[in-house]
Amino acid sequence: MTDTTKKRVFSGVQPTGNFHIGNYLGATKNWVADQHNYDNVFCIVDLHAITLPQDPAELYRKSREVALIYLACGLDLEHCAIFIQSHIPAHSELTWLLNCITPLGWLERMTQYKDKSAKQDSIGTGLIDYPVLMASDILLYDTDYVPVGADQKQHIELTRDVAQRFNHLYGDTFVIPQGTFPEAGARIMGLDVPTMKMSKSSDKGGHALNLLDPPKVLKKSIMRATTDSLNNIAFDLENQPGVTNLLTIYQTITGQDEESIINQFSGQGYGTLKKQVAEAVISTLEPVQKRYHEMADDPSYIDQLLKDGAERVRPIAENRLRVVQERLGLRK
Ligand code: AMP
Ligand code: TRP
Repeated sequence: MTDTTKKRVFSGVQPTGNFHIGNYLGATKNWVADQHNYDNVFCIVDLHAITLPQDPAELYRKSREVALIYLACGLDLEHCAIFIQSHIPAHSELTWLLNCITPLGWLERMTQYKDKSAKQDSIGTGLIDYPVLMASDILLYDTDYVPVGADQKQHIELTRDVAQRFNHLYGDTFVIPQGTFPEAGARIMGLDVPTMKMSKSSDKGGHALNLLDPPKVLKKSIMRATTDSLNNIAFDLENQPGVTNLLTIYQTITGQDEESIINQFSGQGYGTLKKQVAEAVISTLEPVQKRYHEMADDPSYIDQLLKDGAERVRPIAENRLRVVQERLGLRK
């Protein structure tokens, strides 16, 4: 994580709900696969989590759980720094500074804000400001690439707009980051309602495949997944969203192309497809779960790791913040 000849990658996950296979296939799996090529910073974004109400004890526990899941998925501390967002105050501070140059209209247009605020009786100011905090996360580390799922596209665009606006007003300060999205797996859908994104906040059985679900539960959820009555194996998002989602999960896990998957399953029933998907999911997640449970036995290990992670990234964030403060006339 100190190799400055490599381009920098930054990404994050909120410590809320259950870390599911959409988070893994859309984001973390790709971080792991590419980690050797980049200088990586991975964050657990607890300040983003509190833009909606959270139970404090649960938030604390989940923050550490996500860090362990990162490691269990295969992130290697030789190549990555892992830390908790709130441990580096520069994130909050840069957010304030960027708030002052971000037009409110840009934030009001964000679809995630519109969706989330529609579900709440009253909302905190943090919810509309969420994308500015995300921009601060990314811009503090001179990030080149941000590997995320498709739902973050609009937030990355906003980050670029904010960076460009600042650079235009105050002189070249920020690297303009690029979002990177996987070809397959950028948007895994709910197994129960395959027209809706798999979501961490749903507690309904049979909706998500959680990374820490026992094999039996994973299998049950997949076997119950909503399909259709066409009895046809095809990647057809519009007419067969359930079958397409199962095929996509299979494709992303096995790395096969669409054609070979269609050849493999054509003429077979949905029961066979589901069984094969369940086997692929379980054999991918079993070693991840084993590593997770081994590490979870030692809480002091995770606290030390997060402390080390914060120490490694702190100088990068503080340097960038100092330059911003100078540009704005807050210090010399
Ligand atoms: P979040 O759970 O919202 O903190 O998301 C963490 C990461 O997982 C982000 O990169 C998201 O874009 C990605 N992600 C979340 N849900 C999905 C999904 N259903 N399919 C693919 N990627 C997802
Ligand atoms: N908003 C992202 C999500 O919900 C999480 C996030 C916060 C993030 N800051 C980030 C992702 C910076 C990438 C880079 O998925």
